[in-house]
Amino acid sequence: MLARFPASVLALGLVSSLGCNQGGQGGQAAAPTDAAEQTEADSAQAEAAVLLLAQAALELEAAVVAEALVAEEAALEAERQASEREPDVIYVPTPEPVVDRMLELAAVREDDVVYDLGCGDGRIVIAAAERYGVKAWGFDIDPVRVSEARENAKAAGVEHLVTIEQQDIFTLDLSPASVITLYLLPELNVRLIPQLEQLKPGSRIVSHDFDMEGVTPRVHETLNLGARDSHEIFLWHTPLNPVPEPAPEPTPQPEWPAPQPPPELEAAPPP
Ligand SMILES: C[S@@+](CC[C@H](N)C(=O)[O-])C[C@H]1O[C@@H](n2cnc3c(N)ncnc32)[C@H](O)[C@@H]1O
Repeated sequence: MLARFPASVLALGLVSSLGCNQGGQGGQAAAPTDAAEQTEADSAQAEAAVLLLAQAALELEAAVVAEALVAEEAALEAERQASEREPDVIYVPTPEPVVDRMLELAAVREDDVVYDLGCGDGRIVIAAAERYGVKAWGFDIDPVRVSEARENAKAAGVEHLVTIEQQDIFTLDLSPASVITLYLLPELNVRLIPQLEQLKPGSRIVSHDFDMEGVTPRVHETLNLGARDSHEIFLWHTPLNPVPEPAPEPTPQPEWPAPQPPPELEAAPPP
């Protein structure tokens, strides 16, 4: 209940209630006794304690406000930097049956946090929120996609679960996520490896159509949606499993020297 009031309001409440108490005491005729002096000393001590508390509350609120301003500033700066960059890959949406299978393979649970890196119209994060009730973040560098995804999340009634941000995915801290979805390009997946290594153990990464060279997928399956419409899906778990190094070539053994012809015998000198 107290949490609903800013710290400064609580602090002012404390100070004013102290004032009221004092007024109450002041209203009574003070008897000039030791007990009355003691009461006055107690009350002065209580006043000092409350003032200290009020000051601490004000300082705490100032720190919280400063932190929020720094976070807002950082978000605006990330957005400004993102708007100066061209997308690394064009927008192509993942078909809905593929979205469903990607989320199934990632075994999304209610306590997961899903990130779609390059979220396009937001369909993956919206589906995750609708079907699994999870919190989901979509990031895209293209402002048109960002507005489209925000509108779609609102229309689907999941704005309370879905957040869309205009950011360059290569600058993101991925550590809050437990499920990552990708529909990028093979070389972009590889570029993301250092960031994907920040994920908590047991996190899942699913990619539509593209593998991640150097890391062994746990699952690779093909989904056929029509005669000429097939989609690859790759799943990895963290910690990422490097592709095993090929066995080293056997070191060549030193060869025995080729047998030499016996030295030609010289004729012994005549006795
Ligand atoms: C192939 S689409 C995938 C859209 C969506 N994830 C889906 O599967 O339907 C790739 C998206 O990545 C976005 N993108 C490309 N480079 C990016 C970057 N560096 N940071 C953030 N988004 C990027 C594009 O704008 C595009 O919307």
